[in-house]
Amino acid sequence: MSLDTVQRVAVLGAGSMGHGIAEIAAIGGYDVTMRDIEEEIVQDGYDDIEWSVEKLEEKGQIDESAETVLERIETTTDLADAVSDADLVIEAVPEQMSIKEDTFSTVDEHAPDHAILASNTSSLSISDIASATDRPDQVVGLHFFNPPVKMDLIEVTYGEATTDETAEIAYEWAESIDKQPIYVRKDVHGFVVNTVLVPFMEEAAWMLSNDETTVQEADASMVYERGYPMGPFELNDFGGIDIAYHFRDESGQPVPPAIAEKVENDNLGKKSGKGFYDYEEGDGVDYG
Ligand code: 3HC
Repeated sequence: MSLDTVQRVAVLGAGSMGHGIAEIAAIGGYDVTMRDIEEEIVQDGYDDIEWSVEKLEEKGQIDESAETVLERIETTTDLADAVSDADLVIEAVPEQMSIKEDTFSTVDEHAPDHAILASNTSSLSISDIASATDRPDQVVGLHFFNPPVKMDLIEVTYGEATTDETAEIAYEWAESIDKQPIYVRKDVHGFVVNTVLVPFMEEAAWMLSNDETTVQEADASMVYERGYPMGPFELNDFGGIDIAYHFRDESGQPVPPAIAEKVENDNLGKKSGKGFYDYEEGDGVDYG
């Protein structure tokens, strides 16, 4: 198997990561099948891609027309159908091991023997996910960042059984869609980026929990002093506060109360309309 064999990519999940991955694969020239469990979710994901590629076309940020890119994307709710002719499968389903295992087991049954199976998990073990298949050597992590169309980095993560051949094809594929891959050779919880980035959000949340700072002060300090595009609370709202919560909780470590309270009240950030900032009733991100 080599990169030349990869023509069709199946992306499992049409949420913010899934549809973003489908979009960049199509922009990169690959035929794409995007799958989610319900027609409405698939349609919402497709609409978001349409909005995004039209915007990129308007700004001259893609080489082809939006229409040409969109023509490469098929959608379905049928998992077996989605992967039956895929050379590369990229899973972006919810971050629960049981859902990942069920998905990989079904994919393994229906995807061609040569297909590489990749997971976009941000913290679950690639080795554990791979063990749901009979081809753990062909399972690899391809960890994208939100929003995939704007973020350059992709972590290419080894599980215990992943071969160099599999990881190299995944790496070359990431380069072929104009991204900057890095290898993560050990299957550590959170890989490189989240191991460094989640404490950034958590330290600010501990300070907030202890009345030592405010949301606005902490965000302003990182944006104005460090030049970060988003402060720790804005970033948490942007990515989903539940993601930061599960990242820590699943490893059995304490979660800052300021984060836990948001999750308990279903204030998950931008996607639910309210998190550390209020995106529906309030002004959204405002450092005051
Ligand atoms: N497609 C097309 N255009 C888009 C777009 C998209 N998906 N998203 C935004 N744009 C457009 C905007 O509409 C805007 O257009 P306009 O100028 O015509 O109004 C333009 O791009 C610029 O928008 P912004 O001013 O919002 O964009 P910024 O220049 O501020 O950049 C950002 C946006 C790239 C999201 C930047 O804020 C950023 O880098 N934030 C940090 C993101 C980050 O760190 N992500 C990683 C999170 S960790 C993670 O994902 C790991 C996971 O495992 C949890």
